Amino acid sequence: MRKDDMLDPTASLEDQVEVSLRPRKLNEFIGQPKLRANLEVFLRAAQDRSEPLDHTLFFGPPGLGKTTLANIIAQEMSSVLHVTSGPAIVRPGDLVGILTNLEPNAVLFIDEIHRLARPVEEILYPAMEDRKVDVMIGQGPAARSIRLDVPAFTVVAATTRQGLLTGPLRDRFGIIAHLEYYDVASLRAIIERSAAIFGYGISDGGCDALASRSRGTPRIANRLLRRVRDFAQVHGKAAIDEEIVDIACTALEVDSTGLDRIDRALLRTIISKYDGGPVGLETLAASLGEDAGTLEDVYEPYLLQLGFLSRTPRGRQATALAYEHLGLTPPPRKPSLFDPEA
Ligand SMILES: Nc1ncnc2c1ncn2[C@@H]1O[C@H](COP(=O)(O)OP(=O)(O)OP(=O)(O)O)[C@@H](O)[C@H]1O
Ligand SMILES: [Mg+2]
Repeated sequence: MRKDDMLDPTASLEDQVEVSLRPRKLNEFIGQPKLRANLEVFLRAAQDRSEPLDHTLFFGPPGLGKTTLANIIAQEMSSVLHVTSGPAIVRPGDLVGILTNLEPNAVLFIDEIHRLARPVEEILYPAMEDRKVDVMIGQGPAARSIRLDVPAFTVVAATTRQGLLTGPLRDRFGIIAHLEYYDVASLRAIIERSAAIFGYGISDGGCDALASRSRGTPRIANRLLRRVRDFAQVHGKAAIDEEIVDIACTALEVDSTGLDRIDRALLRTIISKYDGGPVGLETLAASLGEDAGTLEDVYEPYLLQLGFLSRTPRGRQATALAYEHLGLTPPPRKPSLFDPEA
């Protein structure tokens, strides 16, 4: 089952609106200050040497700007951008075709790189390292392999699951950058920028209210903004204010911290069915009728970030903060061996 469309940061059908809101240059990219500062250095150094940027891997939860950064890198390097993804490259020959047709200094963006098939990965290694691809000619005993040259190029790869990457693949990236959830100030700036692009006014209070409900994710911020704008328009408001954000978010069942129905159901299930936990991920997913991978990739990271959930070796546990957020009384703390008073 998929997450509500409204809050689903993984929605694959990127509409025109999202593309039009996407920053094109590094200086339009808001937030992630450390990553941005480093990338600026690497880009400038590569440009000065007239070399392509080193292979770059971005990882982090959906909707934080990985695809945006791949586009920015190509733009800043004045390079041609080719876009593909792990699951799209089925046979090794497909990748050979892509690699041997690259323009010099091209950027090859491979989304969801953790889903690359192993034989395809093996074609990528020598291409990234030595700019060579090995191609098999002929069949049976007469088959032989020849090496072809690949022009200098940059792989920019994105993944939501760094843990699923094989060691040898990860090792071939010279730049590995983790995208973090955005703070409220950055989200505010993103919302203001998007509202300006839409030509819709937004008050400071409205901006704050939206930013704090965006789960640290620009894609969700932009999507909430569009829905709130719908409510504002229908309510005859010329600008978005706090009141209309409240009305819209109540209607959309998004609470003050940005949690939606499924987040709350997840916490409630741990609390009421499993006594606060710990409960295993698979059991929890089955109770909720959700897919375990979706829970792990989409819901949990933000709940962990808020401190509502903790991961223990024995499973997921709801924290006292989660009880408080849901208006429930946390159970008395079980005395632990390490408790001085126990
Ligand atoms: N730093 C930013 N400043 C302004 N807008 C941003 C920023 N990062 C992302 N966005 C907005 O959020 C949208 C989603 O970003 P993007 O598609 O790059 O995410 P992603 O990390 O590739 O997600 P996925 O893992 O789902 O592919 C973009 O279209 C853009 O409008
Ligand atoms: Mg993407």
